[in-house]
Amino acid sequence: MRDTLMVAMPKGRIYKQASQLFRDAGLPIPDDFDDSRKLIFDVPDAGMSFIMAKPVDVPTYVEYGVADIGVVGKDVLMEENKDVYELLDLGIAKCRMSVIGLPDWKPVIHPRVATKYPNVASQYFRERGQQVEVIKLNGSIELAPLVGLADRIVDMVETGATLRENGLVEMETMFDVTSRLIANRVSYRMKNEAIQALCDRLQQTLQRGARP
Ligand code: PRP
Repeated sequence: MRDTLMVAMPKGRIYKQASQLFRDAGLPIPDDFDDSRKLIFDVPDAGMSFIMAKPVDVPTYVEYGVADIGVVGKDVLMEENKDVYELLDLGIAKCRMSVIGLPDWKPVIHPRVATKYPNVASQYFRERGQQVEVIKLNGSIELAPLVGLADRIVDMVETGATLRENGLVEMETMFDVTSRLIANRVSYRMKNEAIQALCDRLQQTLQRGARP
C-alpha cells in the first residue's frame, strides 16, 4: 500500500488560484473543499489528503512533517524562515512587498515601520544601514501611517487598490512575491517518487500555460 501524500493548502486569497492550478494538473482537489468549513479532505483513490491551513502556518505544518508538501507565498516563507525545501515557483498570487508611506512623508531619524513581516522588514532596513523601529501588526497595515502609529509600512501590494483608496504611495519595491511549492525534508527523501511526480505535473502545467 502506498503512503498518503499530505498537502497543506493555504486558506484565503491564494487558495482559489492554487486549487485551480492543481486541478489543471489533474490533481484531485475535491470541489466541495472550496466552500466547506471542513479542514481535512482525503482522496484515497489518488493517495492524497489535503489540509486547509492559515497561510502563515503552512510552513510550520510542513516543517514538522504533518504535511509532506504545501503551497505558500514567498512573503511568508521569507518571514517564517522554516527548515523546508522550496521546490517550485508556482507563479500564482503575484504581488510585491513594498515600503509604503504618505506622499508627503519626510525622513526622520528613527522612523517607525509597521508591518505584518517584522523579520523581513528588520533585515531589509538593517542591510541598508537604516535604523528603524519595527511595529508588528496583524492586518489593515495601511491604517498605521494614516493615524500616526508609524511613519512607513512594509506590506504587500497586489492591485494597488488599498494604497489608492487610502492616499498612500509605494516608496520602494522590496521584492516580487509568488506562491511556492514547499516540502518537508524527510518526506522529500522518503516519498520522493510521489513528490517528484506531483512537482513534474505542476511544472508541465505551468509550462503549458494552463494557468488560472
Ligand atoms: C493585503 C495586503 C494589503 C492588500 C494589498 O491585505 O496586506 O493590505 O492586501 O492588496 P491590493 O494591492 O490589491 O489592494 P489583506 O487583504 O490580505 O488583509 P489584511 O489587511 O488583513 O492584511
